Amino acid sequence: MKVSFKDIAASTGGTLKSGNPDGLATGVSTDSRKISTGDVFFALKGPNFDGHAFVRDVLDKGAAIVVVDNEECLKGLASTASAIVVGDTLKALGALAAHVRRLHRIPFIAITGSAGKTTTKEMTASILSISRNVLKTEGNKNNLIGLPLTIFRLEEAHEAAVVELGISEDWEMERLVAICAPDVSLITNIGRGHLQTLGSLEGVARAKGPIFSLLAAHGVKAVNLDDPWVVRAAGFGGQMVTWSAKDKEADVFIEDSFAEAGLAGARAVYKVGGKRVSVKFSAPGLMNGVNGAAAIAAAYALGVPVSHMAQGLEAWTPVKGRMGLIRSGGLTVIDDTYNANPESMGSALRTLKEARGRKVAVLGDMLELGDASEKEHAGVGRLAAELGVDVLVAIGSSSETTAESARKAGLKDVFSFGTKKNALELLKRILHEGDTVLIKGSRGVALEEVVEGLRK
Ligand SMILES: Nc1ncnc2c1ncn2[C@@H]1O[C@H](COP(=O)(O)OP(=O)(O)O)[C@@H](O)[C@H]1O
Ligand SMILES: [Mg+2]
Repeated sequence: MKVSFKDIAASTGGTLKSGNPDGLATGVSTDSRKISTGDVFFALKGPNFDGHAFVRDVLDKGAAIVVVDNEECLKGLASTASAIVVGDTLKALGALAAHVRRLHRIPFIAITGSAGKTTTKEMTASILSISRNVLKTEGNKNNLIGLPLTIFRLEEAHEAAVVELGISEDWEMERLVAICAPDVSLITNIGRGHLQTLGSLEGVARAKGPIFSLLAAHGVKAVNLDDPWVVRAAGFGGQMVTWSAKDKEADVFIEDSFAEAGLAGARAVYKVGGKRVSVKFSAPGLMNGVNGAAAIAAAYALGVPVSHMAQGLEAWTPVKGRMGLIRSGGLTVIDDTYNANPESMGSALRTLKEARGRKVAVLGDMLELGDASEKEHAGVGRLAAELGVDVLVAIGSSSETTAESARKAGLKDVFSFGTKKNALELLKRILHEGDTVLIKGSRGVALEEVVEGLRK
């Protein structure tokens, strides 16, 4: 990426306070610890930091120019320092990314939803990669900082982009859509994630809805017909590609999907525009059959040949911490530790049900549920009992409710711990050959430590 100081100022609505308008920045950074020579540094403010405090430091480290929204930090800098003053550095970061996106006239697919965003993004990129050079979101770079950083990785060689859009506040989606200007938009599902800030399913749908409602006129909505909130968010009018596990009239119909015995993957048969596509997924979990339909719908909306769908989906492998299988010492561990909300807990427990041998669920707290927390943890406990879990190990303060509710629903072997350490000690004592252990909890609970503990 190369962008002139005057273009940065123009696209961000900023003022070039000092520096040569024809000066060039060759990269973008928001983290003063990761400065490369030639970077434009955006001084962002976070809950625990303020980038303005590092302006002198990043210039010493070779940043070409800094973008700030408080001029105080420019006082006393060398006269050679280049700086742009803007109204809001986070908005400016987005505005520069929108400018760069406009320079790359390639199709963008934008994916959001309460669960399955990353998996569907990976699957879609895998299908598109059969015939194109694809830029895709890496890691968890799906918010108002991550999306711009993803767009700054665009190169001339890229022929398409698949980006994940993640929000926790109801004003964020509008800005994410304005930055990436998608050609195809997709909502995987509307579920009870971030209820603390979004309040209700209706609140979640309203907050994610702009990915559809702000789509350009030529844009295509990829719509999950099986989720009434998604259907409502899609509204009427505009171009649509639909997918469904129930409605045969959908453009992408999941004719059949089943789990291979013993978690040896899953199979799905789709009808795409009247053609049959049969896929064998390497990772377990029926939800991947649904995510596969979403990915096919998004690729189909871009005119990708149906013949690429199976090849692309079979080349897909799960991202770390999403339903990854670890077989060691006669145990099968399902590492689903990346995150958890009531929807993803449900689909993970349904996958555990497919396992052979004893089924052990190690479930940690689901965070950011606000007032709904108690009710949702109780729901997970009940579901674990209903789905035939043999042993439940609950970790965390909210998970005591999970444990209590499971006991009430008839699950006998239930243990509840405040710490991962104590839970791990019990697991090492009670687990035996042939057991399958699902480990899942919110990001903040970091249950990968339990996975590591069992691996040793
Ligand atoms: N379509 C789906 N519906 C419900 N749960 C799902 C779905 N896809 C994935 N999951 C669950 O959510 C977890 C996180 O998946 P991921 O693709 O990373 O979602 P996100 O990016 O939305 O957080 C998975 O490990 C799985 O347990
Ligand atoms: Mg994700």
